[in-house]
Amino acid sequence: MSIKLSSGREIPIEMHKARMVQRISLVPVEERLRAIAEAGYNTFLLKTKDIFLDMLTDSGVNAMSDNQFAAFMNADDAYAGSMTFYDFAKAVEDVLGYKHVMNVHQGRAAEHLLAKVFAKPGDAIPTNYHFTTTKAHIELIGASCLEIYYDEALKTESSNPFKGNMDPEKLRKVIEKYGKEKVPFVRMEATTNLIGGQPFSMANLKEIRKICDKHGLILVLDGSLISENGYLIKQREKGYENKSVAEIVREMCGLVDLYYMSGRKNTSVRGGLIATNNKELFDKIRPWLPVYEGFYTYGGMSMREVGAMAVGMREMVDPAVAGSSVEQIKYFVGKLVETGIPVVTPPGGLACHLDAMRFLPNVPQSQYPAGSLAAALYISSGIRSMERGTVSMDRDKEGKEALADIELTRIALPRRVYTISHIEYAVDRINWLYKHRELVKGLRFVFEPPVLRFFDGRLEPIGNWGRELADAFKREIGDH
Ligand code: F0G
Repeated sequence: MSIKLSSGREIPIEMHKARMVQRISLVPVEERLRAIAEAGYNTFLLKTKDIFLDMLTDSGVNAMSDNQFAAFMNADDAYAGSMTFYDFAKAVEDVLGYKHVMNVHQGRAAEHLLAKVFAKPGDAIPTNYHFTTTKAHIELIGASCLEIYYDEALKTESSNPFKGNMDPEKLRKVIEKYGKEKVPFVRMEATTNLIGGQPFSMANLKEIRKICDKHGLILVLDGSLISENGYLIKQREKGYENKSVAEIVREMCGLVDLYYMSGRKNTSVRGGLIATNNKELFDKIRPWLPVYEGFYTYGGMSMREVGAMAVGMREMVDPAVAGSSVEQIKYFVGKLVETGIPVVTPPGGLACHLDAMRFLPNVPQSQYPAGSLAAALYISSGIRSMERGTVSMDRDKEGKEALADIELTRIALPRRVYTISHIEYAVDRINWLYKHRELVKGLRFVFEPPVLRFFDGRLEPIGNWGRELADAFKREIGDH
């Protein structure tokens, strides 16, 4: 939610109060320099004791509600036939409108099953944009993940409200080129994670639906961030201003054949699901569930998490929840735009994204500017962000570096966790870093895993720039 002050200024307002908190600490810059070096200049490898604001992700780290914790206690533990699963299935039917649902241990498990069941080597899967784990599962099968976005999607500075739209013209061409038998499904991601949490419009989803109908193609929705996409449709799309987020989410779900999500984001738990109204599709996937995830009524999740997910499912369409991070991101991005910091606009769901190529124009893409910026931001603030650029791309089949379309440093806003003063602090340190950006140079790999290398890869700074940045910080600001 946001609220208008008497001055006319709008601020995000928390529609919850904190009833349990966790102590955090800000270690001195000298320790931050040591910690990032130990972590191989990869923010994934930092330890939380060294982190002040953990803005790596919104996944599995949102604040749960009192009712979700109550659901933990009420869960019916049973290997098979747990009533908690049936409560969950009812919540899915009420909120998303699907009759058939299975749990999986998290979003990528759903991607694994969908790729395994539907894709074959040589197939092509059109998406409005890929996500790292989606692409990895599709490519492991020997299929390819195609990106069918409007060119505008990659413009980091923009006023286009729906940069997550799929380009229908390009989709028609893909179907023509590959033939519909080589397109096992078309995938839409509700708020495109890797290009700045940008939503698609309902009009676009309807148009893609029509094309799929014409060619008999399956339309899949990755709804990991569906509440934010729904909330942004309400704010930005004509004709939806008076609809509720719940109605919008239901309408989106009604337009697709298969739905999956990571439950770690919108439902604030640790799990995932696949759902549909198409029994035939469901029955193709279901036999594989016990092989890879677990029995049908738990799918790799604990019953406690399934119970909390049922509550989270109903809560995620409450505008106070659906808008909790969106409004903070809008505030955060707005503050950075005021001082000319290169940041992805318009603000989307999930995070505030710094455009690392504009922030660090002196660092060539082959030296990972978004990774450098994430490390530099940690040194200057204790804030952990995430590289979403070339480090997050794996090498191509020939082992050549695959440069990302855009280099983003993602500063995620977990739901209901941080406050405006935390954001003000982040804004201040980002501004300080921007003034000292010429100190920051590139990175090179010293250990590079073969797949999803961003998780575990280790890098080192080219030159001694970490030290120089920390020294400048100490001179001008002090230890903290
Ligand atoms: N799809 C999208 C759009 C996602 O953002 C994620 C995860 C997944 C699928 C995979 O789900 O993590 O539960 O297996 N995104 C996290 C992030 C990791 O930090 O953005 P998962």
